[in-house]
Amino acid sequence: MAAAEVGDDVYGDDPTVNALEAEVAALLGHEAGLFTPTGSLANQLGLRLLVKPGQELVCDHTAHVLRAELGAAAVFSQITSRTWRAERGLLDAAAVAEVITPNAGPYLVSTAAIAIENTHNFGGGTVQPLDAVRSVQALARRHGLGLHLDGARLWNAHVASGLSLDSLAAGFDTVSVCLSKGLGAPVGSVLVSTAQRIAEARVWRKRYGAGMRQVGILAAAGSYALAHNVKRLADDHARAKRLAEALGGDPRFTETNIVVLTVPDAAAVAVAAREQDVLVSALGPRFLRLVTHLDVDDEGIDKAIEILRPLIVG
Ligand SMILES: Cc1ncc(COP(=O)(O)O)c(C=O)c1O
Repeated sequence: MAAAEVGDDVYGDDPTVNALEAEVAALLGHEAGLFTPTGSLANQLGLRLLVKPGQELVCDHTAHVLRAELGAAAVFSQITSRTWRAERGLLDAAAVAEVITPNAGPYLVSTAAIAIENTHNFGGGTVQPLDAVRSVQALARRHGLGLHLDGARLWNAHVASGLSLDSLAAGFDTVSVCLSKGLGAPVGSVLVSTAQRIAEARVWRKRYGAGMRQVGILAAAGSYALAHNVKRLADDHARAKRLAEALGGDPRFTETNIVVLTVPDAAAVAVAAREQDVLVSALGPRFLRLVTHLDVDDEGIDKAIEILRPLIVG
């Protein structure tokens, strides 16, 4: 990072950022990329390119774009939304077909785009089945709807499924990916799409106040993460499975680096664990989420199991 060549990225003059954007776009099989400070911003830029004010975004009921981005789609882009219910975040084309209302005329809100999350965060790191993704893509094309992929953890889906990154990102109009999270960069996400859409997103990024100057120092961390930290995600997945097995979760449902557990009092477990230096998230009264990543080694997992088992399993 310290050695990164930098320039003013607001003018497109930072060579390290330009190289990262091109690298991620090529990896995902899209024309162009845009570096953003967060996955939330990459998602929200993507959504606003696909949905006009007053139109509708359709996604699942626990999608990050809706549940965890603080109403950004409504606040910044005047996007309305409806959801389908998804067990473990799993995509089901029939459920999507029931919710969409394309070209709804003067009475109902018209659906403009569908968002899919892969892997699915609140669903427990679920990898979306490719046939379901392809069915939803066909549905969207039939009805002229846009498609956004929230691929914050697309790298995990790639490693767990063995599918190439470009096949996972194919058929979407806009795709966001995060270089932080499991890949370990301190900051940074990328939105990919056509060159025309990315040019538009670049204007909106600046308008939102996220046009950054010599930001190559962060892009360099992203490039490093891509070169060194993708394959090793398999270790995180194995460690998550071990956690799930030890803590009474269902290891069959632990496909990647997230373990979700239902406990009587999630907040109490999170507080007691934190007192012993194990960090877990209480995401609902009974909903506990554990995430493995490159800073947690096998010993760390042993320690987490030792501390969490009495709190969770008894
Ligand atoms: C699926 C998903 N999308 C988007 C994001 C947003 O990323 P950021 O925290 O960088 O805004 C997250 C963050 O956890 C996520 O899990």
